Amino acid sequence: MAVLPIRIYPDKVLRQKASPVDAVTPDIQRLVDDMAETMYAAPGVGLAANQVGVLLRIFVIDTANEDEPSDLRVFINPTILERSGEVVWKEGCLSFPGVSENVERAEKVVVKALDRNGEPFTLQAEGLLAIAIQHENEHLDGELMIDHLGPVRKRLVQRKLQKRPSVDADT
Ligand code: NI
Repeated sequence: MAVLPIRIYPDKVLRQKASPVDAVTPDIQRLVDDMAETMYAAPGVGLAANQVGVLLRIFVIDTANEDEPSDLRVFINPTILERSGEVVWKEGCLSFPGVSENVERAEKVVVKALDRNGEPFTLQAEGLLAIAIQHENEHLDGELMIDHLGPVRKRLVQRKLQKRPSVDADT
């Protein structure tokens, strides 16, 4: 397994739409494992494939607290089937280091996806897990948490990150 470099906003890959996974092959499973390792190393609660530069519809989530056993969940080709309720949650994103903003989300979701073995499952989620599913699922469509902010907050976040030294700028 390997820790992959995380793409930071405004990296263009974060705005691209990811394609469905055709088949859950060993290469896909290796990517899933690398994404999980990358998420744990960050550390973060969730990571979408776009964030490591791969345009496939995959995300991983682990909402366990530090003092709890790990609870890795893998979502391949996810679809959110139902959303209910409303909640405002202070969210962060590994592609927006140092940023945390209140975002309005559905309180509960029902999602279907394939697991790491390519087996379909349906999950009802609430709390942080429901928030993370919505956040990561948006990444797969090139949507970002800042899209939920008003124009003033959005510009503040954009300015903050555009001042960061870019890796690409030196090459
Ligand atoms: Ni994110």
